[in-house]
Amino acid sequence: MLAVVLRAEGLTKTYRLPAGDVHALEGFEHWFEPGAVTAVVGPSGSGKSTLLNLLAGFDVPSEGGVWLDDEPVHTGNEARRAGLRLRRFGFVFQSFNLVTVLTARENVEFPMGLAGVPAPERRRRADALLERFGLTPRTHHLPFRLSGGERQRVALARALANDPDVLFADEPTGALDSATGREVVAALADVAAEGRTVLLVTHDEALASIASARLRLRDGRLEAIERATPALVP
Ligand SMILES: Nc1ncnc2c1ncn2[C@@H]1O[C@H](COP(=O)(O)OP(=O)(O)OP(=O)(O)O)[C@@H](O)[C@H]1O
Ligand SMILES: [Mg+2]
Repeated sequence: MLAVVLRAEGLTKTYRLPAGDVHALEGFEHWFEPGAVTAVVGPSGSGKSTLLNLLAGFDVPSEGGVWLDDEPVHTGNEARRAGLRLRRFGFVFQSFNLVTVLTARENVEFPMGLAGVPAPERRRRADALLERFGLTPRTHHLPFRLSGGERQRVALARALANDPDVLFADEPTGALDSATGREVVAALADVAAEGRTVLLVTHDEALASIASARLRLRDGRLEAIERATPALVP
């Protein structure tokens, strides 16, 4: 896979409220390193979710922009941005967000269906991803029959279904115990090692320790970039 660069320039989000403007993010600039995990850390209200939503094209900036190589992420209508997300981004959330009436396999197949991948290829790729994350025995289980760690691994398999350039993980271990959380962390490190950009939003400093760079936000500003040799995942 060719390394694709996600970059933000002058990224600013201002919410105009009757009580006054809220500067959720101001002048954020960064190039995200492909093949590495970058963690976004900072106190509650510092702008982490705002930043993630802008980088992923869920929301549009007040000023500045986001590009994936030469492709703008911040322009166009919602349908265009949704198409770009489907093709190039994967998402893992704290609450898993699996479709409750679909099996593990069907959950992984789902985004490939939206992208127009033919059924036999969907099946082949879903089963390979389930196997990769040790979920083959759970192929036909509905989410309610899976443990938290298994659900998050299904969510990770689903996030990789359309072979994304960037994986966004918002508090991916927030709902897991620490041992299960470590499995998910190891899986994220592995996804980065394939050459993808992994962007992790977390309050958990232990989880942030797998990142090769930590972006520290405060009051909507990038306060510091801490570079580290990522901790070895136990
Ligand atoms: N839709 C919105 N309208 C108005 N203000 C908003 C909106 N979304 C976020 N904000 C404000 O922007 C600031 C940054 O919020 P954001 O949700 O990005 O913080 P966060 O770092 O993700 O916090 P947490 O760790 O609690 O999730 C906060 O002051 C918040 O109240
Ligand atoms: Mg948040």
